[in-house]
Amino acid sequence: MDRFDYEAFFEDTLGQLHREARYRSFHPLGRELAPGPVAFTTLGGRRRAVTVWCSNDYLGMSRHPVVLEASRLALARYGAGAGGTRNIAGTHEPIVALEAELAALHGKQAALVFSSGYVANDTVLATLAARLPGCIVFSDADNHASMIEGIRRSRATTRVFAHNDPLALDAALSQADPARPKLVAFESLYSMNGDIAPLRELLAVARRHGALSYVDETHAVGVHGPQGGGLLEAHRLLDQADIVQGGLGKGFGVVGGFITGRRALVDFVRSHAPGFIFTTALPPAVAAAALASVRHLRRSQTERLTLRRRVDGLRTRLTAAGLPLLPTTAQILPLLIGDSARCSKLSERLLREHSLYLQPINYPTVPRGAERLRITPSPLHDETMTDALVEALVVIVPPESRLRRDGVCPSAATSVGVGSSERLGNPENAGRDQHGVEHPDHDQGAVHA
Ligand SMILES: Cc1ncc(COP(=O)(O)O)c(C=O)c1O
Repeated sequence: MDRFDYEAFFEDTLGQLHREARYRSFHPLGRELAPGPVAFTTLGGRRRAVTVWCSNDYLGMSRHPVVLEASRLALARYGAGAGGTRNIAGTHEPIVALEAELAALHGKQAALVFSSGYVANDTVLATLAARLPGCIVFSDADNHASMIEGIRRSRATTRVFAHNDPLALDAALSQADPARPKLVAFESLYSMNGDIAPLRELLAVARRHGALSYVDETHAVGVHGPQGGGLLEAHRLLDQADIVQGGLGKGFGVVGGFITGRRALVDFVRSHAPGFIFTTALPPAVAAAALASVRHLRRSQTERLTLRRRVDGLRTRLTAAGLPLLPTTAQILPLLIGDSARCSKLSERLLREHSLYLQPINYPTVPRGAERLRITPSPLHDETMTDALVEALVVIVPPESRLRRDGVCPSAATSVGVGSSERLGNPENAGRDQHGVEHPDHDQGAVHA
């Protein structure tokens, strides 16, 4: 019998990605400590400075002097690695201080730090949903792949409710046995569409039905709220959420993830979650850098106010230029392109002809037909950079090829959705979340409310 041809399998699969114009190419970037959001890349054998417009380092904290100094000092004092899992040798002083700061930021009894936001979502949701006896999970249809993975792995009964729809959540919860434990999971700020959840309403529904609430604030912490606590802080809702998840790699500019909540719940996760127990802790210099970032953003409004000015200014300019901007109020400005080949081509032209770095967002990160350029200004971008971006986009996205905000392309007379795979109604998107990972329990086996 012939043996399985691994090489052919991998090559065929990659070939399919190329044919669908969604093979992911990475341009290596030298994100050196220049004063602005500038990086260096090699094009045609020549090293060239490019302006980065797609980083999730929303506030430029990855290069803030306070953060760099804290990292330098901790590196000199503690060395490079944590020395093991938290159980073994990894519970070092900076990570303990970071957890205390994060708990204080959210006014919660406790916090727990993980290697990344992905790991936090995956392992916390998997642990809670599997170990709460008979738990039913209620999950927003547009939840991030990391949440879906955790929920799926728990094998708990799952109900997927329509994106940002408190009535759908209410209906789903009403059908569930009141005596069973329930976990309601959603994000505060969805990173691909830039839309914000109706937090007050969703939390009120969860509470009314006796469900635990889990809110992913990965894209909101640092950036929103008077102390950078996120959108729950901004709307004075922190006391209404049972578990708040956040990231240390985006608004805080470093790396890592965390949850905050009541002491017993956080201790339960600490004691049972494999993604916490069986992995080396974040290094002290990383924890110290994150701590400096969180502390700085609790006090300083400068970065948030400058970001707000930059985002509002660019939004006005893009709208006035007639570019196909999705309506958002947060810091993420998605320009709808609607075709993966075109989206990749535009990104390539921006880089080669205008020295602007803006990665294409194609399927499977967004559903087919909702491909986009996702612009994320930062306080480090200035007026000259903004002018250059708008002028380049006006040239390379001509009026006849622009999708309208409702997803209609006037020249092609086609219509595409911009949200979840369900709303898009495209059979090719079925069974996949917006990040393209197949999630049978979440998207096919799970009941859609
Ligand atoms: C909503 C959401 N949650 C979690 C994550 C994972 O965070 P991290 O990059 O820290 O792993 C992401 C990543 O972009 C995300 O968009």
